[in-house]
Amino acid sequence: MVAFPQLRLHRLRRTGALRALVRENHVSVNDLVYPLFIMEGKGIKEEIASMPGIFRYSVDRLSPEIEEVTRLKIPAVLLFGIPQDKDEAASAAYNPEGAIQQAIRLIKKTAPDLIVITDVCLCEYMSHGHCGVVAGGRVDNDQTLPLLAKTAVSHAEAGADIVAPSDMMDGRVQAIRSALDEKGLQDTAILSYSAKYASAFYGPFRDAAESAPQFGDRCSYQMDPPNLREALREVEQDITEGADIVMVKPALAYLDVIQQVRNTFDCPLAAYNVSGEYSMIKAAAQKGWLDEKQAVLETMTAFKRAGADIIITYHAKQVATWLHSD
Ligand code: PBG
Repeated sequence: MVAFPQLRLHRLRRTGALRALVRENHVSVNDLVYPLFIMEGKGIKEEIASMPGIFRYSVDRLSPEIEEVTRLKIPAVLLFGIPQDKDEAASAAYNPEGAIQQAIRLIKKTAPDLIVITDVCLCEYMSHGHCGVVAGGRVDNDQTLPLLAKTAVSHAEAGADIVAPSDMMDGRVQAIRSALDEKGLQDTAILSYSAKYASAFYGPFRDAAESAPQFGDRCSYQMDPPNLREALREVEQDITEGADIVMVKPALAYLDVIQQVRNTFDCPLAAYNVSGEYSMIKAAAQKGWLDEKQAVLETMTAFKRAGADIIITYHAKQVATWLHSD
């Protein structure tokens, strides 16, 4: 047996080249997905107060952003829509002329190789801000499924490559898969927000997307943060229903969940580095309390080390820029 002083783990840490030689995990631009907020209306490009560096765009102002993402070789975007009018049937979510549907068509025309993923949820489109149909003061799972399916089909018909249900209704992957297949959209993939926790880290997003619930919270449909085994049941369920990619969300406080899902299933796995995780680092960096580049790259690497294949992050443009300049 070799032990200290013969064994010295410092030997392989002595130079940058040695450290790179034995590095176990790498972040690549190919892993990144960049979320974009698309607003109904014209001439809009406004920064989100709680997410410095992240903007809401109307479709007519979107092109320069798409060009930048393409130039940075980021392979995919994830689209969120913010409608002008909200109601109790989330009608704007499945309007063929809605902001998301128009944005998809624009991107597919101008940057056909950019992968378009769309968030499928109703909270931004509902007057009450919940992710499903509200009946008798609570969210009705089964009444919500047809609306989600309709929304996913309208995104796929506009040209989305991947639809990503984030509502956490039971049975939604199956409902969406059947609806897509019925319309001959069998090539549209599903990225399911499988283990999505009821998290405080979505705070800045809800400002950005104007999607905070007007009463109550999301605890009756999103997962309870203390639960890990339940996440495996959620993921298994979604894979059984036809999910092509599964997701754990948030990412930083849930690295153990990412690791367990990775060790249990062979399905491609995404980690969603959510708005609150982005804003924490931004705020600390703006105060000079953290080195932003180092802190961001360290967290990205942690997602890979835990076992994620795909990283959805508001830092994507920065990360791509840093990786290209290395
Ligand atoms: C919609 C949705 C949310 C997020 C993604 N899709 C908010 C929520 O569930 O309240 C959060 C994304 C983020 O915080 O970056 N349901």
